[in-house]
Amino acid sequence: MASLFQYLLCMVLLQLPLFISAQTYNNITLGSSISNLDEKPYWTSRSGDFAFGFHPHHKDFFLLAIWYAKIPVKTIVWTANDGKPVERGAKIQLTSNGVLSLTTSNGTEIWKAEAIDNSQVAYAAILDTGNFVLSTAESKFVWATFDNPTDTILPNQVLDLGNKLSSRLTKDDYTVGRFEFVLLGDGNLVFYTIARPTEKRNEPYWASGTVDSGTQLEFNQSGYIYLTLKSGGIRSLSSERPVSTEEYYQRATLDYDGVFRQYTYPKSSPTNGWPESWSTFWSLPQDICTSSFGEFGSGVCGFNSYCKLDKDQRPECLCPPGYSFIDPDNSFKGCKPNFVQQVCKADESRIVDGFEMQVLSNTDWPFADYEWFKSVNQDWCEKTCLKDCFCAAAISRRGGDDCWLKKFPLSRGFMNPSSDRIALIKIQTLEHLNNNGMNLSAE
Ligand SMILES: *[C@@H]1O[C@H](CO)[C@@H](O)[C@H](O)[C@H]1NC(C)=O
Ligand SMILES: *[C@@H]1O[C@H](CO)[C@@H](O)[C@H](O)[C@H]1NC(C)=O
Ligand SMILES: *[C@@H]1O[C@H](CO)[C@@H](O)[C@H](O)[C@H]1NC(C)=O
Ligand SMILES: *[C@@H]1O[C@H](CO)[C@@H](O)[C@H](O)[C@H]1NC(C)=O
Repeated sequence: MASLFQYLLCMVLLQLPLFISAQTYNNITLGSSISNLDEKPYWTSRSGDFAFGFHPHHKDFFLLAIWYAKIPVKTIVWTANDGKPVERGAKIQLTSNGVLSLTTSNGTEIWKAEAIDNSQVAYAAILDTGNFVLSTAESKFVWATFDNPTDTILPNQVLDLGNKLSSRLTKDDYTVGRFEFVLLGDGNLVFYTIARPTEKRNEPYWASGTVDSGTQLEFNQSGYIYLTLKSGGIRSLSSERPVSTEEYYQRATLDYDGVFRQYTYPKSSPTNGWPESWSTFWSLPQDICTSSFGEFGSGVCGFNSYCKLDKDQRPECLCPPGYSFIDPDNSFKGCKPNFVQQVCKADESRIVDGFEMQVLSNTDWPFADYEWFKSVNQDWCEKTCLKDCFCAAAISRRGGDDCWLKKFPLSRGFMNPSSDRIALIKIQTLEHLNNNGMNLSAE
């Protein structure tokens, strides 16, 4: 008897690993729900790599999202509800009809996902790839987050013609921002800035040039990102050789600064502990500060500011002297002058009174010219702008003899060490500021 029992036990144990590997995900059955008040307000993939549910965002706000669950950096890779947070008491439910429904504490539905073709949904699952799916009983996926990306794509994910990524607004605000990465219906892969609050696209600031030849954008299992072509070939977005997806988590995100970056993060803790952030593997475009944004829009930074790549090659938006950020929490929103504009008067000497020019080397605002002089020097350029009440700034060329006068708002400015342009900014002198400002009582 005992030997028969041992034999049976042995058979069961031998079968067990096979049984587990065939079962690749945890089903979320119809009628299941989670509330953000639950102790564990999310579902995890079988490997535990990804979670789907309520990500604690701010003190009392949550995002319905997908994120990396195992590593200390709980990076979000997808958000529901257009990135808008929900308050305490919100609930996500897979209803008995197979609709994934997000409701607030008073039961109002604010977002939902359902089968694209009226198929009967049998269950949902968060897969080990990071894809959350609604599935039929035959395991046909009838809605998937991989088909509805927000700002990120993951290995094994494909963008079809007409699909896009939209950047979020700021580092912590997941609502829609100003940049798009689109695989157009004609096969061209392009980056745009959007003329908010409309959906109008400005001229592209990067394009793959694959009109009539591109078919899909693939992020394959080995970590390569490329366009597949009608010819059967591929067009890689980077020549870098990826690291292993077995050892590294990988994602590619259209960041809130308009740059598309492929990132890596080690799956197991290195000897000196987990890194505090993801490493950038490559990015596109290489220098967004000097990318060509066409005629309209503010470019990467807001109006009246200028863009400079920092030591990590990330764009940093800065204000010229005499200016400050419109929103100190969002440097991408642009800058405002800290003074009242020069008033146009018939008497030139009175216009100039209280104003001065400040020099910003290697800096240019290539747009918004209203006058161009030749065969003049920097000193002449400065004086001419100073006494012209329409002039916000002037650009002079080192060793050259050009002078461009600029009007408000200054747009698509950048500082680049290799630039021979010298920006001359008109600002109010400090004493004048004090005399005209709040400080009158001191006089
Ligand atoms: C439910 O709450 C939302 C805010 O979360 C509010 O806008 C809506 O009016 C409320 N609806 C009802 C029926 O109370
Ligand atoms: C998930 O549910 C489907 C449909 O009910 C079923 O066929 C499948 O075996 C289930 N899978 C697991 C891993 O439980
Ligand atoms: C991913 O793409 C690269 C480049 O085309 C290719 O060499 C590699 O075999 C692909 N990996 C998989 C798993 O398809
Ligand atoms: C007021 O203006 C005077 C000079 O006119 C300056 O010395 C003083 O610091 C100013 N006070 C403030 C509060 O700005």
